[in-house]
Amino acid sequence: MKKRILTGDRPTGKMHLGHYVGTLVNRVRLQDEYECFFIIADLHTLTTRPQKEYVEIIANSTREMVLDYLAVGIDPSKSVVYLQSAVHEVYELNLFLEMLVNVPRLQRMPSLKDMAKTAHLNEMPFGLLGYPVLQAADILLPRSHLVPVGKDNEAHVEITREIARRFNTYYGEVFPIPDVMIGDVPMLVGTDGAAKMSKSAGNTIFLSDDRKTVEKKVHGMYTDPNRVSADVPGKVEGNPVFIYHGAFNDNREEVKDLTQRYRAGKVGDVEVKQKLAAALNRVLDPIRDRRQSYEERKGFVDEFIYDGTMRMREEARETLTLVKKAMGITGTWNRIKRKAEDYRKRLGRG
Ligand code: TRP
Repeated sequence: MKKRILTGDRPTGKMHLGHYVGTLVNRVRLQDEYECFFIIADLHTLTTRPQKEYVEIIANSTREMVLDYLAVGIDPSKSVVYLQSAVHEVYELNLFLEMLVNVPRLQRMPSLKDMAKTAHLNEMPFGLLGYPVLQAADILLPRSHLVPVGKDNEAHVEITREIARRFNTYYGEVFPIPDVMIGDVPMLVGTDGAAKMSKSAGNTIFLSDDRKTVEKKVHGMYTDPNRVSADVPGKVEGNPVFIYHGAFNDNREEVKDLTQRYRAGKVGDVEVKQKLAAALNRVLDPIRDRRQSYEERKGFVDEFIYDGTMRMREEARETLTLVKKAMGITGTWNRIKRKAEDYRKRLGRG
C-alpha cells in the first residue's frame, strides 16, 4: 500500500512563486510515490473572515486555486482534491482533537498572532486559536504519513504530531505520526525584498501572470540599494534578484556568470533583471499552457473537486469509525440503543 500525503491551502485565489517553490513542486514530484489528498481549506478561512461577504467569494477563489494546482502539474488521474467544508467528519474529529491540546501551547504559536494581526483583529477568536487543531484534523483524517508545506506551516504539523501521539496513547494506535516536508526554498522573499512573498504584502509574482506582467514586476524588483551604477560592485547575498536567479534559473552557467560580473561591477541591473524575467517565463510558460487547456474545459475543475470530495468522504467515514471505536464513544450509544430496544420489547412495543 502506498503511503499518503495530505496538504493543501486556504482558498484565497491565485497562487504565486512562493507557493510554487515552498510546496507545489514537492506535491507534483511526489504524486506517483504517494497517494495524495489535497485540501481546499475553506473552513480555515472562517477563522479570520467569518462574514458572509467573504464566504460568498470562496467558490471563485477555489476555482482559481485548483486551476493553479492543475497548471503546475497536479494530475487529476492520480490525485484527490477536495473541499474541506463538504466533508463533515472533519468537524467531528476536530472536536475530539480539541480535548488533546492545551490552550497555552496554542497561545504561544507565532503564526496565529501573525494571522490575527494581518486580519486586523485586536483579540484572538476562539476559532483562530483552534486553527492548528483543525489542521491536525485535516491531516489525520486520511491517516496521512507526510505533509509537504511551506515553512510557515511547519509548527502546525508539529502540533499535529503531538496530538496524534496523545490520541494513540489514550485510545490505541489509530494514526501514523506524520512527517513534515519543507520545500527547497523554505520562504521565498517578496519582489520588494520583504522576508516573505505574500498576497497581503502585494509583493508577489503569480503563476498566472502573463509574460509582460512578469517582465514589469521583475523590472521593479528591489535589489542592492547601494549600487547606484553598473560599475559599482554589488552584493549578491540577500539580494532578491539573485535569490530568484538561484531558485528559478535553470541556466546555471548564466547565473554563475552574472554573479561574478555583479560582484565585480561589470554588469548592469537591467541585464540581470532581463535574464531573470526570461528564466521565470521559461518556468511559467508550460504552466500557462496547461492552465489554458484546463480553462477551456468548462466544468472540468468543478467535476474534479466533486469527485475528490466524494472520495474523501469515504476515507473520512472509515477513519471516524475507527476513531469512535477506539475511543469507546460508539459503545455508549450502542448500550443505550440495546437497552432501549429491550425495554420496548418488554412493553410489547417491539
Ligand atoms: N494552513 C494552511 C495555509 O496556510 C492550509 C491548511 C489547512 C493545510 N489544512 C491543512 C495545509 C492541512 C496542510 C495540511 O493555508
